[in-house]
Amino acid sequence: MVSKGPLLRLLTAINRRRMKLLVGLAFVAYVASVWGNFVNMRSLQENGDQKVESRIEEAVAPLREKIKDLEKSFTQKYPPVKFLSEKDRKRILITGGAGFVGSHLTDKLMMDGHEVTVVDNFFTGRKRNVEHWIGHENFELINHDVVEPLYIEVDQIYHLASPASPPNYMYNPIKTLKTNTIGTLNMLGLAKRVGARLLLASTSEVYGDPEVHPQNEDYWGHVNPIGPRACYDEGKRVAETMCYAYMKQEGVEVRVARIFNTFGPRMHMNDGRVVSNFILQALQGEPLTVYGSGTQTRAFQYVSDLVNGLVALMNSNVSSPVNLGNPEEHTILEFAQLIKKLVGSGSEIQFLSEAQDDPQKRKPDIKKAKLLLGWEPVVPLEEGLNKAIHYFRKELEYQANNQYIPKPKPARMKKGRTRHN
Ligand SMILES: NC(=O)c1ccc[n+]([C@@H]2O[C@H](COP(=O)([O-])OP(=O)(O)OC[C@H]3O[C@@H](n4cnc5c(N)ncnc54)[C@H](O)[C@@H]3O)[C@@H](O)[C@H]2O)c1
Repeated sequence: MVSKGPLLRLLTAINRRRMKLLVGLAFVAYVASVWGNFVNMRSLQENGDQKVESRIEEAVAPLREKIKDLEKSFTQKYPPVKFLSEKDRKRILITGGAGFVGSHLTDKLMMDGHEVTVVDNFFTGRKRNVEHWIGHENFELINHDVVEPLYIEVDQIYHLASPASPPNYMYNPIKTLKTNTIGTLNMLGLAKRVGARLLLASTSEVYGDPEVHPQNEDYWGHVNPIGPRACYDEGKRVAETMCYAYMKQEGVEVRVARIFNTFGPRMHMNDGRVVSNFILQALQGEPLTVYGSGTQTRAFQYVSDLVNGLVALMNSNVSSPVNLGNPEEHTILEFAQLIKKLVGSGSEIQFLSEAQDDPQKRKPDIKKAKLLLGWEPVVPLEEGLNKAIHYFRKELEYQANNQYIPKPKPARMKKGRTRHN
């Protein structure tokens, strides 16, 4: 037997230490590799998580924007509305309230704090004109034709439903007659049933082609009962007759506003009357067409003046007819030149042959409104025209961008040519 010498023992001890060291190193390496893998996996996972998160964020961001928009639309901002106590707040019906004048009247009465119900069949009116009130607790919009009876509870009725511009009322003369006759009877019947006061939006057209100038309320008019405009002129005349029959026979409180030419934003693009015609022609660089010599006169009021007059009349004790118009008279040629200047248009003025039945003069006598209502127009012509020009410019832009602008169908052509209205 060979005995283990001190050298061998030394070598064995060294090997053992090496072994231990090696094992230790191997263990450390193992732990390090496990840790490394763990760290790698974690960072991979974190990277993955980040990617997923950023994808989710990408998908969610537009939804978040949509929710914000929805929130905004739910908390829609209405124009400021006064608070009226129960005793001062009235329930008001406006027939034709989605039209040009009716929508401005809606704005005024809503902002004054009343409860407003608009009834309209949207023949010439547009929801767009009153959309800023939709959803408001004081506002109601009903799609209804006044030729059919209506059963609601109201305190006041502004009866405006009727096409107003010649292309619109001549489009279907029988319907115009029905609206102004049967429609007015229905509204007077409603006023009688619920004890409401009714204001009729009558017109200066009840004076026809006037033989007196300016026209005051005592003038009985000069209307051709079988002419192309008779459906409107005579329709309004008989509507006035109906109001006074209901007043005398049934004690219904009536107010009759004889409205003269009015202009402003929300007029129809194809209104066909001189202000809108000239503005549109000037904006589109087309010639401004003047029928005849252009010496015929017209007077135009801005829509806010009319609305103030209608409200003043409704709340007055004046039951006989009252003219509401602006007596500032201008020749058609002056209007053409002024509009051309305000638009900054290079359009020429084109003279066409004189139109049939074109009234030579049209100007309201508003002494009665001044005296009994304390009302008179206050908006200067140029200021009103600038607002109307701004509105028509925007409408043309919408049209150019192919945005939907509803238009009444064009008038069927009748004998006789276009004339200044
Ligand atoms: N704008 C003027 O210069 C003027 C001048 C004189 C009188 N008026 C009278 O003022 C009133 C309003 O005129 P506007 O210029 O606002 O006209 P508009 O055509 O813009 O408004 C008339 C409204 O009545 C609605 N309507 C028509 N027939 C209806 C029916 N059968 N049932 C329910 N709704 C109906 C239309 O859809 C429209 O919203 C009319 O009665 C008109 O005769 C206006």
